[in-house]
Amino acid sequence: MKAARMISCMVNRKRVHLEISPAEITLDLLRKNLRLTGVKEGCREGDCGACTILLGERRDKGITYAAVNSCLLPADALNGTHVVTIEGLNRDGLNPIQEAFLEEGAVQCGFCTPGILLSLTAFLINAPDPGPESAARAISGNICRCTGYVAIRRAIDRLFQSIPKLSGKDRILALIKLGILPDYFSSIPTELDRIASPTPPDRVDSDENPVYVAGGTDLFVHPTHDLKDQPLVFLSPTGGPDGIRVGESFLELPGGLTTEALKQAPEIRKFWPRLPEMLELVSSVQIRNRATIAGNIVNASPIGDIAILLLAMGAEIELMENEKKRRIPLRKFFLAYKKLAKTPAERLSRIFIPRPGPGMAFHFEKVSRRQHLDIASVNTAIGISAPDGTIREAHVAAGGVAPVPLFLEKTSLFLRDKSLEPAALKAALVVLDSEISPISDMRGAERYKRRLLRNLFLSHFLTLFPGHFERNPAFRELLSVTDSQCKKKHDSHRRKG
Ligand code: FES
Ligand code: FES
Repeated sequence: MKAARMISCMVNRKRVHLEISPAEITLDLLRKNLRLTGVKEGCREGDCGACTILLGERRDKGITYAAVNSCLLPADALNGTHVVTIEGLNRDGLNPIQEAFLEEGAVQCGFCTPGILLSLTAFLINAPDPGPESAARAISGNICRCTGYVAIRRAIDRLFQSIPKLSGKDRILALIKLGILPDYFSSIPTELDRIASPTPPDRVDSDENPVYVAGGTDLFVHPTHDLKDQPLVFLSPTGGPDGIRVGESFLELPGGLTTEALKQAPEIRKFWPRLPEMLELVSSVQIRNRATIAGNIVNASPIGDIAILLLAMGAEIELMENEKKRRIPLRKFFLAYKKLAKTPAERLSRIFIPRPGPGMAFHFEKVSRRQHLDIASVNTAIGISAPDGTIREAHVAAGGVAPVPLFLEKTSLFLRDKSLEPAALKAALVVLDSEISPISDMRGAERYKRRLLRNLFLSHFLTLFPGHFERNPAFRELLSVTDSQCKKKHDSHRRKG
């Protein structure tokens, strides 16, 4: 078993020094060791948001706060940080968010309430231009089983009626003045300077087969006793734009970049303006704040959204073992179910995405039971260029239809030099169907998944080239070749990126 280690951090108002075991979870540490029972334990899988806390990390001269799920957060990540639970927002009397919730009857059993209040607080700290609509989206990772959300939505509206417009850089100070944050928040930077800074990742001993942990949002869903004896090597996720480089041909991302940092990066908005909107479908904001791009790839889930997006973008990856580096196309990385073209000691250090040429369009489709916080039944992405009605380049990827995140090589090649016509798509569907091998499981029967991918593939073209297909009877006929049960499911579950 790996040795326990000491960490130091601020938890609400107090500096604490704690002995933790490597696989310890923050939720347990807060509730059991520190008796902070305002942090609720719901699903313990990142699905409900009841365990949401704020994680404050030193960055440049200030601190960034992010809402995270404490049930998936390795306690190791707390070293040198400020952890805020609902107890840490307490002051004399209620704060304006709590008041709005009380006035609108937005609390019934109250189990979800601490998590929702912390998600809203993180939103007010971070959103460039906070308003009720975006605030409602900021709690998409918090489930309430009692209120039906209507009263919560009213409380959000009431809150924004009661506070002035927030802008400017010193948001923490502004929120202290409004009574949303307690006064002690202003002294946290100085307090954090006095305690240990995060430790750099361990150097890897290559005969040890390390288990790398960055965000931990996938690995720590599994029972942590499975991890106790493993050689865990903790890496810090990159929550800021540091390390993103725009080269002449590629955009380079650090593997440890969080999904939220990717979503916020101005470079991404510049080259793929709709990608941030698509990334909202990947997971809740709490998960996006911790889950890294490299983690989503090496997890090798056949339905990983980021892997599918990157496959369609033609990404390459850099693998690194200590100082040794090598670079391969992502398409060559997935060998079989959970089998990767890497040695156990190699970690995915960087991702290279080709800069899109003029006229290159990109689209993502995902079907899942819930819009913002669910695993796909089937997902697919396409990068395509068809400047004059003829397809010059196409890269199609799909998840949930094979043992690996699948680049549809034959379909992509088939599409090249074809006209944007229903007949070409009809022929492409035959190729596509021959390339996939879905299995029947809890997310749908094999036949359903084949039909789903077929319709999502057509949706790419309908969305990107409406002038060619929207009113085309032959295209509509293609869409209608589906059994009624599948169509019903598709219509109710379809989620556009
Ligand atoms: Fe449900 Fe953590 S307990 S997200
Ligand atoms: Fe009961 Fe939200 S008030 S779960």
